[in-house]
Amino acid sequence: MNSLLIDCIGELVTNDGRGGDPLGVRRDAALLVEDGRVAWVGPARYAPAAGRRVDAAGAAVLPGFVDSHAHLVFAGDRAAEFAARMAGEPYTGGGIRTTVGATRAASDDDLRATVGRLRAEMRRQGTTTVEIKSGYGLSVADEARSLRIAAEFTEDTTFLGAHVVPAEYADRPDDYVGLVCGPMLAAAAPYARWIDVFCERGAFDADHARAILTCGQAVGLGVRLHANQLGPGPGVRLGVELGAASVDHCTHLTDADVAALAGSETVATLLPGAEFSTRSPYPDARRLLDAGVTVALATDCNPGSSYTSSMPFCVALAVREMGMTPAEAVWAATAGGAAALRRTDVGRLTVGARADLVVLDAPTHLHLAYRPGVPLIRHVLHNGVPR
Ligand code: NIG
Ligand code: FE
Repeated sequence: MNSLLIDCIGELVTNDGRGGDPLGVRRDAALLVEDGRVAWVGPARYAPAAGRRVDAAGAAVLPGFVDSHAHLVFAGDRAAEFAARMAGEPYTGGGIRTTVGATRAASDDDLRATVGRLRAEMRRQGTTTVEIKSGYGLSVADEARSLRIAAEFTEDTTFLGAHVVPAEYADRPDDYVGLVCGPMLAAAAPYARWIDVFCERGAFDADHARAILTCGQAVGLGVRLHANQLGPGPGVRLGVELGAASVDHCTHLTDADVAALAGSETVATLLPGAEFSTRSPYPDARRLLDAGVTVALATDCNPGSSYTSSMPFCVALAVREMGMTPAEAVWAATAGGAAALRRTDVGRLTVGARADLVVLDAPTHLHLAYRPGVPLIRHVLHNGVPR
């Protein structure tokens, strides 16, 4: 029998959405995996027989983290830029062009090795689903190959040709938008599920962002957006208007932005690794949650503004710095990420969901924030297979 029983679970986080407890916690539970899916969840004393058995010995079991925002296809290192920021330099997004130069010069195998290394690093920290963006190629060929490589690692690939205007188009931004909407989109779309734009002063304004995102929608890509990271702006409301699955960063919001999100299906994805690494004020998760907005947490893993692959680190930051309870942060890092990717097969441990889960070296989910920086991931199952 191709089945695996995880037995003696002290605290099982199901995210089943029932009974007023957002985490759907069950105590003294067991979970049966069959053919990569959750086949049964219930009290440990009623656990069915299975081909194999793992004794969780009272530990907490959670859905694997869903990291819905990462830029993993790149080359080079910007540690010196980080050091300069910690010595007082501001973050402007200008370093993106440095990574574009290094990425264009890298071989396919070098890029593939970097994505593989970061993907493995993420998995060791409990991430079982990751979204991967392009955005450091910024030419037709380099964006297409970034996405082709990303698609070797995930179903959730995002075309971010509109990350910044590359140097060779610096005085012709309209021409660059034409390139993104035309030949670049045509070359990228076969490998992409999503389209994204960095809508920010110094990157793309609302008109350019709308033009690019609607071209993407026309070829069947879902919309997500980098919005309101460095200052207030039109990104969040544009995302809501276009039915984006998620608007990401949301650091500088007006009351109108919060109201627009609250009346929509668009998830607000918060990326506290970026504020940590740019020494910026954190987004106010409490304000969003109190308004009824669906909040996700993600790493924004990239070589410039947030070079962390750790969802537990983001959970701890969100609790300590952004007004989230540990339960809200764990939900946002699992079910919230799934909502931001419009996925119902991950981010929960209910019958039929993918058996993507973590066994913690801790009795409850609280320890993820209570013991920051401690490697608490004991086991990871992806599609029911121990990794
Ligand atoms: O999400 N904001 C735009 N893009 C990335 C930063 C990329 C970089 O600095 O290389 C972000 O923070
Ligand atoms: Fe980003």
